[in-house]
Amino acid sequence: MNEAKLYELLGKMITELGAAYIGTSVVIGDELGLYKGLAAGGAQTSSQLAERTGTTERYVREWLAGQAASGYIEYDAANQAFHMTPEQAMVFADDNSPVILTGGYNILQAAYAAIPNMTEAFRTGQGLGFTDYCNCLFCGVAKFFGPGYRANLVSGWLPTLEGVVPRLQAGGKVADVGCGYGISTVTMAKAFPNTQFFGFDIHPGSIEQARAYAQEQNVANVTFDVATAKNYPGSNYDLVTFFDCLHDMGDPVGAAAHVYETLHDDGSWMIVEPMAHDDLASNFNPVGRVYFAASTMVCLPTSLGQEVGLGLGAQAGEAKLRDVATQGGFTSFRRATETPFNLVLEARR
Ligand SMILES: C[S@@+](CC[C@H](N)C(=O)[O-])C[C@H]1O[C@@H](n2cnc3c(N)ncnc32)[C@H](O)[C@@H]1O
Repeated sequence: MNEAKLYELLGKMITELGAAYIGTSVVIGDELGLYKGLAAGGAQTSSQLAERTGTTERYVREWLAGQAASGYIEYDAANQAFHMTPEQAMVFADDNSPVILTGGYNILQAAYAAIPNMTEAFRTGQGLGFTDYCNCLFCGVAKFFGPGYRANLVSGWLPTLEGVVPRLQAGGKVADVGCGYGISTVTMAKAFPNTQFFGFDIHPGSIEQARAYAQEQNVANVTFDVATAKNYPGSNYDLVTFFDCLHDMGDPVGAAAHVYETLHDDGSWMIVEPMAHDDLASNFNPVGRVYFAASTMVCLPTSLGQEVGLGLGAQAGEAKLRDVATQGGFTSFRRATETPFNLVLEARR
């Protein structure tokens, strides 16, 4: 036993434990508007923030201290006041910021709540259904991925696909499969008013939310329906999109075959998947770590819980995804673009 190595590991683990604990406070601060109240009100004492947010001072005081100890907010000892820098506000307080991260903690909440079911699943090998998770999973996914779609999808990703933007500008037909709360669908529908968008998801609760979101955003060229990736209706789509959902499916090859059948001869299948390298060890980095952890608790069990149960996992990587598309009938497959968090892939017939 090397004592220096042991203490080095223990030091790291104190940081890790703190990060895991403080996540609970992030969810509560987001839910109660504590971050927003702090960001909007400038330097404040615990009493002032509690009054501003209609919460109890004693709890808010403890919350503020934990946030400051985490470096998520700032503390001015002379005035016993707390504030947020613009950067901290972008990450915790501003729902329109492209880097708001609070949704990730809602997913985490669902992951922790799934521990008893998952412990049993490790023993039995069974998968989980979407109803086995608390709803903070679905709202968390929408909150976590939505800002990236609003920031990148129309101006960054769609132009990297072959001839897709002109087709959508002229007026086409798009299926957004596994659309969740419909953030990607509505974002595209707003940008291309001549095109008709059809959002599909296996989860009825998500489709309800997507319909409400489209209505709230006043977008008329979009409809949402419950359907699976293997049975969604329609044909001759100019574009079929799968945002962060192919690896969640039990039968991604069956889904690929259905996309092939429903796509226009000259159409594109856009697959956005978590960034991953084909070589396992190359994914042992901070981004891969988040995805492996999420995959263990959510993506893998939900895939294993569906028919076929292929269980790609969230770190499948381009080579395995190419195999899925090829087995589904596609002859052309390429990486159109990427971000530190996403692979953007295009398959054509
Ligand atoms: C991680 S979420 C992504 C949601 C949304 N596309 C986004 O990026 O915010 C995965 C979605 O895939 C849906 N899904 C999983 N398996 C499916 C299937 N076989 N057919 C259709 N939707 C499916 C889930 O209900 C969930 O909404």
